[in-house]
Amino acid sequence: MKAVVVRRGETEPTVVEVDEPTPEPGEALLRTLRVGIDGTDHEVIEGNHGWFPENDDHQVLGHEAVAVVADANDTDLDEGQLVVPTVRRPREEGNEFFERGEPDMAPEGEYVERGIVGAHGYMAEFFTSSLRYLVTVPDAFAESGFLVEPISNTEKALEHAHATRSAFEWTPETALVLGNGPLGLLTLAMLEGEQTDFSRTYCLGRRDRPDPTIDIIERLGATYIDSRETPMAAIPAAHEPMDFVYEATGYAKHAVETVHALRSNGVGALLGIPEDWTFAIDGGALHRELVLQNKVLFGSVNSNVNHYEAAIDSLAAFPDWLVDDLITGIYEPTAAPAAFETSDETIKTVVEFDTV
Ligand code: NAP
Ligand code: BGC
Ligand code: ZN
Repeated sequence: MKAVVVRRGETEPTVVEVDEPTPEPGEALLRTLRVGIDGTDHEVIEGNHGWFPENDDHQVLGHEAVAVVADANDTDLDEGQLVVPTVRRPREEGNEFFERGEPDMAPEGEYVERGIVGAHGYMAEFFTSSLRYLVTVPDAFAESGFLVEPISNTEKALEHAHATRSAFEWTPETALVLGNGPLGLLTLAMLEGEQTDFSRTYCLGRRDRPDPTIDIIERLGATYIDSRETPMAAIPAAHEPMDFVYEATGYAKHAVETVHALRSNGVGALLGIPEDWTFAIDGGALHRELVLQNKVLFGSVNSNVNHYEAAIDSLAAFPDWLVDDLITGIYEPTAAPAAFETSDETIKTVVEFDTV
């Protein structure tokens, strides 16, 4: 079968032939429909994040997938059922975080991540997975279900953000998303959804108009902020201070600047995965501001099955135009390397292995 891999020593994806996997007892065989590409996949290919499976000279890419049960293999799944796989797997059976359904909170070293950290991903015609790492999704998700994984990452971040403010009456009105990549735009759509409290939302980018991401930001009802014209430090005065900031740029200075963009009692969530970058900051001012203004800055990674379930509802509530506008390229497996090319016209690309 065809698989899209990155080989050791290379920084480009390649399409190769590999053996079709055979499910172990308790595992099902899944026929892949679509696999999405995000900023993390680029970081993996470039060697800036994750690592190769032990004893393998290549890694199958892809962690955002939607698939169909091809062989239930005596599990409780039904053949033809649509599923989305989770990303993390325990390095050793019996891991306490996985046992209690919180793989997203497992410390480094206790997990692998399929397609990212030490394990093969889903960018192949077939993959296998244990039932406990599969979430069933509605039949209507055959084309969009790969978005459940990235949306679930934001469901987790929002849950943690609210948890940090749950000890008092927090009535957030303003939210700023840093980054107009796929994660930032999906998050903006979630914050604009009816179930959240924000009445004014903003999204930071660094693009000239006309630009398809700015069109999405404005169609969602949010305000676009160009970081080249209005740097982070100027946002509270130019617009207003933010109750919630969600960082999805991977631009390390934003971690610190997030704190200054917050209103008193605000919370900042960091999701981006930056490379090393040494720069000077006023640590005293940062420390003082966090303390005297009851601000919170936290990091958030991955998600658990509850977040996948919430993500299914969020995706179902998105307007149809949004998913259509976000997906800017659908590539056959043989053309997969082109799906990793970036441009100002590219938002979210997918490799489509099959349709239902
Ligand atoms: P992406 O496609 O790389 O998007 C990042 C966006 O941020 C780009 O659109 C980029 O603009 C913009 N940006 C970068 N620096 C900026 C600056 N200084 N000012 C304004 N805009 C800036 O990545 P993604 O898939 O959306 O993911 C975002 C980040 O989150 C990545 O680092 C990814 O690895 C990480 N991530 C983390 C989790 C988690 O669980 N923690 C989950 C998913 C993704 P241009 O395109 O114009 O350059
Ligand atoms: C994935 C998460 C993963 C994180 C760190 C993200 O792109 O969506 O599942 O935990 O990268 O590797
Ligand atoms: Zn991801």
